[in-house]
Amino acid sequence: MRATKNPLETPLTKEFGLQYPIVSFGHCRDVIVEVCNAGGMGVFGVAGLSPEEIDIELKWIEERVGGKAFGVDVIVSGSMPQTGTMEEFEAQIPPGHWAWIEKLRKEFNIPNTRLPDGTVIGGRVRQERVATQESAREQLEVLLEHRVPLFACAQGNPAFIIPEMHARGVKVLGLIGLVRQAVREHQAGIDYIVAHGQDGGGHCGPIGTFTLTPQVARACAPTPVLAAGGVGCGRQVAAALMLGAAGVWTGTAWLTAKEHDIEPWYQEKVLAARSEDTVRTNWGDGAFRRHVASRIDERWAQPDAPPILPRPMQSILTRELTLQIHDNKVENVYYPIGCGQTAGLLNEVKPARQILDEWVNECLEAFEQYGLLT
Ligand SMILES: Cc1cc2nc3c(=O)[nH]c(=O)nc-3n(C[C@H](O)[C@H](O)[C@H](O)COP(=O)(O)O)c2cc1C
Repeated sequence: MRATKNPLETPLTKEFGLQYPIVSFGHCRDVIVEVCNAGGMGVFGVAGLSPEEIDIELKWIEERVGGKAFGVDVIVSGSMPQTGTMEEFEAQIPPGHWAWIEKLRKEFNIPNTRLPDGTVIGGRVRQERVATQESAREQLEVLLEHRVPLFACAQGNPAFIIPEMHARGVKVLGLIGLVRQAVREHQAGIDYIVAHGQDGGGHCGPIGTFTLTPQVARACAPTPVLAAGGVGCGRQVAAALMLGAAGVWTGTAWLTAKEHDIEPWYQEKVLAARSEDTVRTNWGDGAFRRHVASRIDERWAQPDAPPILPRPMQSILTRELTLQIHDNKVENVYYPIGCGQTAGLLNEVKPARQILDEWVNECLEAFEQYGLLT
């Protein structure tokens, strides 16, 4: 049997006018614009940005994509408190936890200095911001004002804002790590679901992408599902479509794009990492996320480590130490570099457009190999 239609045409490409069902997530606006202009869809992560900064970044992107669709990703999690100040949360951290941080500092010779807030790192102004439902809501207001084509909700259930987003013509996507989370969002009327497998970089659930994607696609039909976690080549794009996905959602691969503004040492770590060099831990902010493993991960796994605190206390506890590791480039401890297992596939820096083109060509070759192309 021969295909009579383009296998890369899916509900995602039709809705947003894309050439390819490939979404790139990232914090670098240049890569987002490149991917949008090359036929995919870029989704810009605004974690840590103020509403004013988001407004500036969205204007910058809008001016360069010529009306093409893009998305904006906001971290809204049910485990974030409603409101509160840094001082209030700090006061809730037990003294024993601070003592543990001091112990780590001594063991790893981490200098007690760091670059001041306001320093620009990887294209972003570093600033002290505590993530609450209230601060996320302020970020979401900017998306509503801009009527962005897509709002991607990292972690939490965006049910509370779906009607408002829809009223402004904004489609809503939710990232999930478990089938039951997907079903909840599907029932709330979400437009797209990202089945985020545990292979992926950044926050991710406990289930592998290959296992999770078809379950979510079945449970949430006809809501389109995108497969995420471990996608770093064209054969995986073809496989994701075969699993019932309407496309792929990718992150780690774009850290190796030529246009990316990440620090060179960070990019080198991702390029050098093998799949087995990453680890999924929750000591950073209380939620599990995958990054390049370091000696500090081993310490948090030992019996003298204190229990993980609820959000946002855990990130307030670890923030100063991780920044000091980063700023002083403490050898072999290293700042937890967000990175998925797909790092094993990524060995050289390439322009974003080339990454996309290579994936598309390899995907089509795979379809052709099995006689699925006319
Ligand atoms: C460095 C890094 C930071 C990330 N930050 C976020 C984030 O702020 N919001 C989000 O929804 N996903 C975030 N993710 C996860 C991505 O959206 C995506 O689901 C994941 O990278 C897909 O797996 P892959 O890394 O194997 O491509 C991040 C991923 C990486 C690598």
